[in-house]
Amino acid sequence: MKTIGFIGWRGMVGSVLLKRMIEENDFDKLTPIFFSTSQAGQRLFLFNNKLPLILHNAYDLDTLKEIDIILSCQGDSYTLNIYPKLRNMGWQGYWIDAAASLRLQEDAVIILDPINRWVIDEALNKGIKTFVAGNCTVSLMLMSLGGLFSNYQELIEWVSVSTYQAASGAGSRHMRELLKQMGILYQSVRVDLDNPAVSILDLEQKATTISRSTNMTIQNFDVPLAGSLIPWIDKEIKKGQSREEWKIQAETNKILQTKNDIPIDGICVRVGSLRCHSQSFIIKLKKDVPIQDIEHMISSHNQWVQVIPNTREHTMYELTPTAVTGTLSTPVGRLRKLSIGPKYLSAFTVGDQLNWGASEPLRRMVNLLT
Ligand code: HSE
Repeated sequence: MKTIGFIGWRGMVGSVLLKRMIEENDFDKLTPIFFSTSQAGQRLFLFNNKLPLILHNAYDLDTLKEIDIILSCQGDSYTLNIYPKLRNMGWQGYWIDAAASLRLQEDAVIILDPINRWVIDEALNKGIKTFVAGNCTVSLMLMSLGGLFSNYQELIEWVSVSTYQAASGAGSRHMRELLKQMGILYQSVRVDLDNPAVSILDLEQKATTISRSTNMTIQNFDVPLAGSLIPWIDKEIKKGQSREEWKIQAETNKILQTKNDIPIDGICVRVGSLRCHSQSFIIKLKKDVPIQDIEHMISSHNQWVQVIPNTREHTMYELTPTAVTGTLSTPVGRLRKLSIGPKYLSAFTVGDQLNWGASEPLRRMVNLLT
């Protein structure tokens, strides 16, 4: 049995990952070792108290180098610190990572096996040992629209996207902050909310005044998100493009190993959803394909995608973060030819960024190694 070392397993991605691995009995084929960056030596019980364990030091290279598979959800700074040291020591194990820093390295593969299993298999045959999950919106886009991207040479001229990314995508502290902000807004109007004598504009003014005041909790997002949105995610990378926006084209084309880049760009926006990233697409097709054929290509691509009929009822009940959170489903709806012309297709996708957007590709990669 292979040993697997977990680092960063108590955060949001790590917790979802472990839950899925337990559900799927992945540990029948693995010996897990748990690391901590801050609490080495601590004893705890996992798996319904069945497994007593001692946390190992996540910076102890001598322990790490004995492990077959290291799976890190700890983040970029841990990876950038430890990964090169281990490789320089001659460690030949598999490094599986949720963080972005290694994704575009030549000897690393971005993993999303329903989309690029052939790339993963080829890499394994060549002896590649570094496998990294893609950016959440990129992975979710490809899971939902894989039926079009798998025929990109005949079908796709370019893709324009606007994202609607959940607060939890920024981290657990951010999600807590959003919930606090919601509470602050509610409290600011609570006594007057059902009083018809208080005008709705007065209620809005009170909430806006609180939002702009020092009473609003904004330590993590820097500005209010509840009742608002933030049309910028991550740092600026070039010419007014954010790093989150830059990743879309760079990672999509690496995942698909395209010879000529599919042009994809857009605007990434943080919204007040708790969990699930949604995306609105305009796809310029290379030819006028009937919408029924497009729906068939999309729905037959993988077992997780679902085409949601483009009606108000279906959209409202099946194509929202509330409906999709906690599932592996990657629905796509609002499919129609835009009035701009028959080669312009609209689509709207929703997917749980903690499942297919982060942890599920990681656990499936582990399973390819056991
Ligand atoms: N980069 C993503 C975000 C993280 O900020 O939402 C994945 O959810």
